[in-house]
Amino acid sequence: MAKGHFFSFEGIDGSGKSLMQQLSGKWLKETGYSVLLTKEPGGSDFGRQIRNWLLDKSSAALSAKEELLLFSADRARHVDLVIKPALAAGKIVLCDRYIDSTVAYQGGGRGLDRDFIESINAFATGGLVPELTFYLDLPLEQARKRQKANLDKIEQQNGAFFHSIIDSYRQLAQQYPQRIIKIDANSNIADVAEKICRHIEAYLAKAGNGHE
Ligand SMILES: Nc1ncnc2c1ncn2[C@@H]1O[C@H](COP(=O)(O)OP(=O)(O)O)[C@@H](O)[C@H]1O
Ligand SMILES: [Mg+2]
Repeated sequence: MAKGHFFSFEGIDGSGKSLMQQLSGKWLKETGYSVLLTKEPGGSDFGRQIRNWLLDKSSAALSAKEELLLFSADRARHVDLVIKPALAAGKIVLCDRYIDSTVAYQGGGRGLDRDFIESINAFATGGLVPELTFYLDLPLEQARKRQKANLDKIEQQNGAFFHSIIDSYRQLAQQYPQRIIKIDANSNIADVAEKICRHIEAYLAKAGNGHE
């Protein structure tokens, strides 16, 4: 039976997640795979409302725990209604942000307990973990240069917040070396995309072309 594959993209804002998701998705489609590009927060129907509460500057300021629970509610619905059905249909799912963002932002950034976050992640996802995660590692100064002009509520935080997030991402990459591939994102677009596509290609070849 066809079996899909699940890959995620992680990194601070401006690190290139959305662009690399697009470029690797394009390559996969050209290679003949059926691909779903999706994102968190906001990858499902009411998740898009949750995304507005989380990121829209005109919505109320949220405490760290409110933020954690909203991201998790968004994820629970996204997994059940979007990701799992796509995987069951044999698609390759490329997700812009997933569980590691919560560890990095609500753990590293906001200081919530790391083990608790991992438990909530497991609860929200029913244990669905990406097969590969591309962590786009980029110094904050470089990311700032690439960021869009109109930053959302979370992107507006100060430098210390983002340095903690980068530290958390690097720790995660060390903790899960089989799953999380740290990519040096401080390189030109074609090089970064090429590296990611070659990792995916090697993984799929080993996994049997998505039809295990
Ligand atoms: N390797 C790269 N070199 C130069 N510019 C890049 C690179 N990767 C992405 N960009 C550009 O930087 C900006 C932020 O990238 P984006 O994919 O939106 O990041 P993210 O989704 O992580 O916030 C975009 O304008 C994008 O085209
Ligand atoms: Mg993006």
